Amino acid sequence: MKRPGLPFRRIWDRIQPYYGGSSRRLPGLAVSSILGGFAEAGLLYAVVRVAVAIAAGEDSVDLSLGPIAADGVRLGVLFGLCGGFLLLRLGFAVWGSVLTARIATETLRLSRSRVFSDFLHADWPTQSAEREGDLQELLSTHVGRITAGATMLSTGMVAFFNFITIVLSALVVSPAAAGISLLGAGLLAVVLRPLSKMTRRLSGDWAASNREVASRVAEGVRVSQEIQVFDVADEVNADMERYVRPSLRLFYRSRLIARFTPEVYQVTALGLVIAAMALVWGTGVDDGSQLGAVVLLLVRALTYSQQLQTTVQQANELAPYLEQLTTQFEIYERAARPRDGEPLGTVTDLRFEEVEFAYVSNVPVIRRLSFSIEPGEAIGLVGASGSGKSTVVQLLLGLRQPLGGQYLVNGHAAERYALDDWYRHFAYVPQDNKLLRATVADNIRFFRSGFDDQAVERAARLAHLHDEIARMPDGYDTIIGSGAADLSGGQRQRMGIARALLENPSVLVLDEPTSALDVRSETLVQQSLTELHGRTTLIIVAHRISTLGICDKLMVLREGRLEAFAAPDEVATSSDFYRDALRLSTLGGARGEG
Ligand SMILES: Nc1ncnc2c1ncn2[C@@H]1O[C@H](COP(=O)(O)OP(=O)(O)OP(=O)(O)O)[C@@H](O)[C@H]1O
Ligand SMILES: [Mg+2]
Repeated sequence: MKRPGLPFRRIWDRIQPYYGGSSRRLPGLAVSSILGGFAEAGLLYAVVRVAVAIAAGEDSVDLSLGPIAADGVRLGVLFGLCGGFLLLRLGFAVWGSVLTARIATETLRLSRSRVFSDFLHADWPTQSAEREGDLQELLSTHVGRITAGATMLSTGMVAFFNFITIVLSALVVSPAAAGISLLGAGLLAVVLRPLSKMTRRLSGDWAASNREVASRVAEGVRVSQEIQVFDVADEVNADMERYVRPSLRLFYRSRLIARFTPEVYQVTALGLVIAAMALVWGTGVDDGSQLGAVVLLLVRALTYSQQLQTTVQQANELAPYLEQLTTQFEIYERAARPRDGEPLGTVTDLRFEEVEFAYVSNVPVIRRLSFSIEPGEAIGLVGASGSGKSTVVQLLLGLRQPLGGQYLVNGHAAERYALDDWYRHFAYVPQDNKLLRATVADNIRFFRSGFDDQAVERAARLAHLHDEIARMPDGYDTIIGSGAADLSGGQRQRMGIARALLENPSVLVLDEPTSALDVRSETLVQQSLTELHGRTTLIIVAHRISTLGICDKLMVLREGRLEAFAAPDEVATSSDFYRDALRLSTLGGARGEG
């Protein structure tokens, strides 16, 4: 395909991946606009000749279109010609519109599914680094812009070919007048180039500030309860205003230039047509008999060139958004986790060998950590806040990879196993379980297929949640989650355990499962863990001594190093941290210096 103009090329390079199968519609669009353009030129020419003949009281005209000349064509025939051109023009317009709409729809489908899917398949470090609201903004605004870009490209292409064909026709009718106008229009486009550059820069800044605002809105929604109780709505709003104000200035300026450029262009180009007419009239380079038709054609070409100008403008405005989107896709796609690997039948042992990890280079969080866990063991992971417990959990789950040393599962590097198998065997209960807006049963299933109602109920019973579900208005079909009935903290925690147990995992990792629970819920969670003990490898991050009671061994972390790893009695004598904690009777009251 021909790539008219620079901004179009930029847009084309960005949008092309979302055209998918629609690319094959582009030649059709070009053909329909070229043929449509010629039909329109023919129509305009015939209309003017008919009008002039009627005004002069003649009933036939002499036609002259470059090499084609016909004398004494009757008006009736010309009317017929007009009708024919009209139908052709309409037909090509319909064809072009259908193609444009199809292309836009396909682009919408592909870009929307790609943003979401790329995000979902990116690794955890990339996902967790994602700012709140950014993805939503990408999905709504930016995807909308891709679609707008695709439509705009089509419109621009149609305008371009229409313009070319009408200008060609004008050149055939009156080479001098058309030539002069065209030359002037070309010069004008060069003169207006700096304005286009400015538009691009302004809209780049505007796009960036939009993302900032979206992020802040998302954050405001998440912490709205805190905003209420700290009574800081005005302060949050004022803070938001600080971000909104500069972006409004950008918006105003980009709007101004966007409106102004095409107006300048149109007025000046119209002046050029007048100048060309004056030149023909003054010099007599053309015979002047077809001047009416050529002026009409040039004015029409002007409309198309204005459309083209507007699309160039829009292309400049869109370019930064598409660049951001493409960058984001590249980040996600680079971070996609390979799914293939060796099968993992069952987990027999877990071993860390001198594992090192850091979130930020030169700030080690885990240092030369070595330990080995036997199947069915229950391990309590303790240590002061910031000692690296949650980091070890993420490493154990394969969500993050060691920067040094090795993580071995069944004696082989953990990352060599296929992801499907891996996550069937490794389950996780986060501290803050999030509910989906769905039925209780679907919350336990969490999108995993192939689990019938019995399997769901079994998991709920293991998590000691079944009795409470049975008392809900619709039992397992009760809708819970955002905007519907909420669960208590303890119920949500047990929902997390039910979720994790659905697939009968070999290894269950729990991050502070009881820290926020009342005594009854804590007892129920402990009961579940006791029942699993021996069958499933349990790794429990906990602050409460009572929860650690079921553990065979305790692993004490201190600033990312292993301070102790032994039976609780032994640890009580060897670890200062644990001794202190025992003295205070709950680890939650432990001093933070580790
Ligand atoms: N995403 C991150 N980026 C940078 N640093 C991080 C990140 N997550 C954790 N850290 C840092 O790593 C260290 C260990 O954090 P980690 O969350 O593993 O501690 P923890 O033992 O789980 O603490 P707590 O008991 O408070 O949950 C801390 O110094 C923390 O500031
Ligand atoms: Mg933690």
